[in-house]
Amino acid sequence: MGKNVIFTLLTMLYFFIYVVTSLNSSTDEYALLAFKSKITSDPNKVLAKNWSQGTSFCNWIGITCGTRHQRVRGLNLANMDLGGTIAREIGGLSFLRSMIIRNNNFCGFIPDEMSKLSQLREIEMQYNELNGTIPTSLGFLENLQKLNLSHNKLIGDIPYRILNLSSLVEISFGNNSLSGSLPTDICYNLPKLEMLRISVNQISGNIPPSLGTCTNLKLLSLSYNNFAGSIPMEIGNLSKLQILNLGRNNLIGSIPYEIGNSSALEYLYLHLGSNILTEFGKSNIIKQSITWSPESLGDLIALQYLDLSKNNLYGEIPRSLEKLKELVYFNVSFNELSGEIPNGGPFMNLTIDFFVGNIKLCGSSQYKVMPCKGYATSSSIKTRNLKYILPSIALVTILVIILVYLMRRHNRNTLLPAQSTSPITIKRISYYEVLNATNNFDEENLIGIGSIGKVYKEIFSDGMIAAIKVFNLDLEGANKSFYIECLILCNIRHRNLGVGIYA
Ligand SMILES: *[C@@H]1O[C@H](CO)[C@@H](O)[C@H](O)[C@H]1NC(C)=O
Ligand SMILES: *[C@@H]1O[C@H](CO)[C@@H](O)[C@H](O)[C@H]1NC(C)=O
Ligand SMILES: *[C@@H]1O[C@H](CO)[C@@H](O)[C@H](O)[C@H]1NC(C)=O
Ligand SMILES: *[C@@H]1O[C@H](CO)[C@@H](O)[C@H](O)[C@H]1NC(C)=O
Ligand SMILES: *[C@@H]1O[C@H](CO)[C@@H](O)[C@H](O)[C@H]1NC(C)=O
Ligand SMILES: *[C@@H]1O[C@H](CO)[C@@H](O)[C@H](O)[C@H]1NC(C)=O
Ligand SMILES: *[C@@H]1O[C@H](CO)[C@@H](O)[C@H](O)[C@H]1NC(C)=O
Ligand SMILES: *[C@@H]1O[C@H](CO)[C@@H](O)[C@H](O)[C@H]1NC(C)=O
Ligand SMILES: *[C@@H]1O[C@H](CO)[C@@H](O)[C@H](O)[C@H]1NC(C)=O
Ligand SMILES: *[C@@H]1O[C@H](CO)[C@@H](O)[C@H](O)[C@H]1NC(C)=O
Repeated sequence: MGKNVIFTLLTMLYFFIYVVTSLNSSTDEYALLAFKSKITSDPNKVLAKNWSQGTSFCNWIGITCGTRHQRVRGLNLANMDLGGTIAREIGGLSFLRSMIIRNNNFCGFIPDEMSKLSQLREIEMQYNELNGTIPTSLGFLENLQKLNLSHNKLIGDIPYRILNLSSLVEISFGNNSLSGSLPTDICYNLPKLEMLRISVNQISGNIPPSLGTCTNLKLLSLSYNNFAGSIPMEIGNLSKLQILNLGRNNLIGSIPYEIGNSSALEYLYLHLGSNILTEFGKSNIIKQSITWSPESLGDLIALQYLDLSKNNLYGEIPRSLEKLKELVYFNVSFNELSGEIPNGGPFMNLTIDFFVGNIKLCGSSQYKVMPCKGYATSSSIKTRNLKYILPSIALVTILVIILVYLMRRHNRNTLLPAQSTSPITIKRISYYEVLNATNNFDEENLIGIGSIGKVYKEIFSDGMIAAIKVFNLDLEGANKSFYIECLILCNIRHRNLGVGIYA
């Protein structure tokens, strides 16, 4: 009996002490004053003037208290130009739900004591100078929904315990110096996660396929890291995904067909080179050849933004993309694409700036690429174009390709394939003869103007008619373009085609 009484008394005493301490609002004041004491820079004297002990801390600027008891619920000191460290005593604000100190100059470590703030739902510390590692103990904050530590100087791994906090909805660690890799089972315990931003760090390893199990993800931004390997097809399981930013990594392989199933996708940020991120931009990411699944992308009807620049994409731009009515940004610069640029649907409003660095593309004049006729296919060459390619006005190099209709009989050219049925002539033509025949490249003889050169009609003194293409070597890509045309013409077997190259 005595034992029971003592036990009951002890329990009551414990409970009493607990209630008193937890309701003791002066612990909050103490914590806030300690916090203030670590603030070494307050140019606008906000805290210096306002946080004075004469008034209730619930009236202090940036403080919100609960209505029932006078305990601090919210601390919002955003954009106040404050500098200093975060006092460990912050851990005494045991009723704190929201801690917002973004856009200041807080430095030093994130105190471990924050793990005592078990009510905390929201942490916004972005745009400060915080350094050190992300405390693993933040993984004890079982109510945490939003954690934004972006734009600081944090180092080390992303603690696994944090990526295992099932309450989290938004995680932002962008623009720090975090390293390590993502856990392979990253999404096994993040059922509510809608945003994961870790762009601009030094995270390496593969993109874990288990990200596909974060089925509520709307935004996934991993750009500007050192991710390697391929893009997991499981990303295609993220049916709510609106923004996917994987640019500026070292990803290889193909763009998974499954991504076409994310019908909510608005931004496919595969800026893999000029950095995967747009505001970010430089070199590339997907180093090996990437093939794409045209039909699949054509299903992304909500797609507005597609940046595939600086990859190694090859093949043709699928016409099915003309279906993407919402598409306003489509950048495929610096790839190996060939064939005709579509000109229907959203393509009508695009300019050459979206296609540069694909020397094999052709299309309408709005894109300032070479016209598709007359170069890309042998059938167009069968038209009456005779083509000479000459050095630029700058006379850097002279090479000539001649397409001729011949009037004279000649010996069979032994270099030509056996199926050639008619005789052919190879003619040597000097630059001066060309100058002469075009009357010094007179505009009268101009047949056509392309993106990188002009084509003139020539009548030589012996009556031979030819077309001369003059490349402007001052333009980027002209050299390559010339080279490709040579290759194409060299490979075309046609009885009326002869090739001569002069340098
Ligand atoms: C409240 O807390 C302060 C500081 O922690 C302490 O000095 C004070 O004695 C406490 N008051 C009560 C009634 O417990
Ligand atoms: C502190 O700021 C709050 C909110 O701006 C204001 O209501 C209060 O009067 C200020 N207190 C002092 C002592 O300046
Ligand atoms: C972290 O920041 C503090 C305060 O600016 C500085 O004294 C300390 O050297 C920094 N530590 C590291 C590891 O950069
Ligand atoms: C992850 O969370 C689950 C459920 O909360 C827990 O059972 C497991 O131990 C946690 N794992 C780690 C490594 O913290
Ligand atoms: C975190 O802060 C950055 C910078 O202000 C912002 O762009 C981002 O949307 C924030 N993330 C979340 C999850 O709130
Ligand atoms: C990252 O932060 C640094 C300064 O902390 C800034 O200069 C840089 O522009 C930021 N990068 C991006 C991509 O936001
Ligand atoms: C995720 O995608 C893979 C392959 O695309 C598929 O095999 C798997 O069943 C999907 N998982 C879920 C949960 O939908
Ligand atoms: C894409 O979604 C359709 C139904 O919307 C489904 O039948 C198909 O299996 C999915 N494909 C992939 C690769 O997930
Ligand atoms: C397309 O991407 C390239 C390389 O990333 C960039 O230089 C160019 O400005 C972009 N074009 C447009 C229209 O944004
Ligand atoms: C092209 O741009 C004009 C003006 O910005 C707009 O009215 C038109 O709808 C656009 N066309 C397409 C196909 O996007």
